[in-house]
Amino acid sequence: MVREWDPRTASPAEIESLLDTLNAVLAADLPEDPPWQDSFLREYQSETMPGERRISWLAEDESGRLPGHANVLLLGDIGVVELFVHPSMRRTGLAQTLLTKVVRRVYDEGFSAIGVEVVGGTPAVAFYESLGFAREYVETRSVLKLSTVDWLAVGETAGTIGDGYRVEYFPGGPPDELIEGYAVAKAAVRDVGDGDLDLRPSSYDPERLRDSLACLHRRGMKPYIVLAIHERTGAVAGLTEVVVPAQHPTRADQYDTIVVPEHRGYGIDRALKARMLVELRSAEPRLTEVQTWNAPDNEPMLKVNAELGFMADREWYEYGADVPDLLHRLDPKT
Ligand SMILES: CC(C)(COP(=O)(O)OP(=O)(O)OC[C@H]1O[C@@H](n2cnc3c(N)ncnc32)[C@H](O)[C@@H]1OP(=O)(O)O)[C@@H](O)C(=O)NCCC(=O)NCCS
Repeated sequence: MVREWDPRTASPAEIESLLDTLNAVLAADLPEDPPWQDSFLREYQSETMPGERRISWLAEDESGRLPGHANVLLLGDIGVVELFVHPSMRRTGLAQTLLTKVVRRVYDEGFSAIGVEVVGGTPAVAFYESLGFAREYVETRSVLKLSTVDWLAVGETAGTIGDGYRVEYFPGGPPDELIEGYAVAKAAVRDVGDGDLDLRPSSYDPERLRDSLACLHRRGMKPYIVLAIHERTGAVAGLTEVVVPAQHPTRADQYDTIVVPEHRGYGIDRALKARMLVELRSAEPRLTEVQTWNAPDNEPMLKVNAELGFMADREWYEYGADVPDLLHRLDPKT
């Protein structure tokens, strides 16, 4: 049975069963990834940015277990889907049933586009392609094992930056007086259209950036920020963001790393990332890995990551579909 579900009022048993299914999915599809813990899972599923909504569904079997889950985040003009089915229940049509609920709802809410992140080398590729989703963007995920880091070299790199710049570290997020400059730096590279569907959070105006940081905290995801400051003007010349999620605190997520175009060529990218690693090592003693996603044509970033010891792991795709077409395919009566 598939039913709509509200994580805010879900019972602890439901949260636990959902976690069991998620970890079975990870063990089958991404066995190298750390299992999730029962920490902030409710908040992870229920907290959203202002103006965004998440609607969720569960599949429940006769014994009360929850072998399938779907949710859609409605943001801007797109619905972004997450959907998974327990490995023991696959190829029974459950994902298709869940997706039909999602797509009908997205259609009823007036959205015309739907997107999904799909992990390369997993059955999700065939599932979404069988339904006519088109691959719109490709990234490579890379993982850095902290045990392989040359800490002496990284410590030196952290202290090496062009004259006229300094690097500052802000666990939890930058102070209010730097938020404006931080947003300006993010906006400076936003216009370099990279074809990304923007399925992952990124915020370009100060108010939205504050909301975004607050939302991360509510979801149990602690942001660490390192900024490069141009000393003469006080401008934010570069930034790097890492988030340590309570759900899998041994593996952190690298979010944006940005060097504003006019400040490129001064070793800022290297210095920021190296300083971040040095700080994380003492701030998060449980942390063993950092993962990051890069477009394959982002050569400068890939070079710095390779120097630090990041190893390419998997391709990661964004797929998209037109909602009325997809609904018709899922439910030809429509
Ligand atoms: C992708 C996923 C949702 C599919 O679930 P499912 O319940 O097995 O899918 P369905 O039974 O509804 O399949 C519908 C159709 O999709 C296609 N399909 C699904 N899995 C497939 C596979 N492994 N190979 C080829 N085609 C497949 C088939 O056309 C299938 O129809 P058929 O069985 O009649 O041939 C499931 O494999 C899953 O949960 N993957 C993990 C997704 C995820 O979020 N991962 C994130 C962490 S890795």
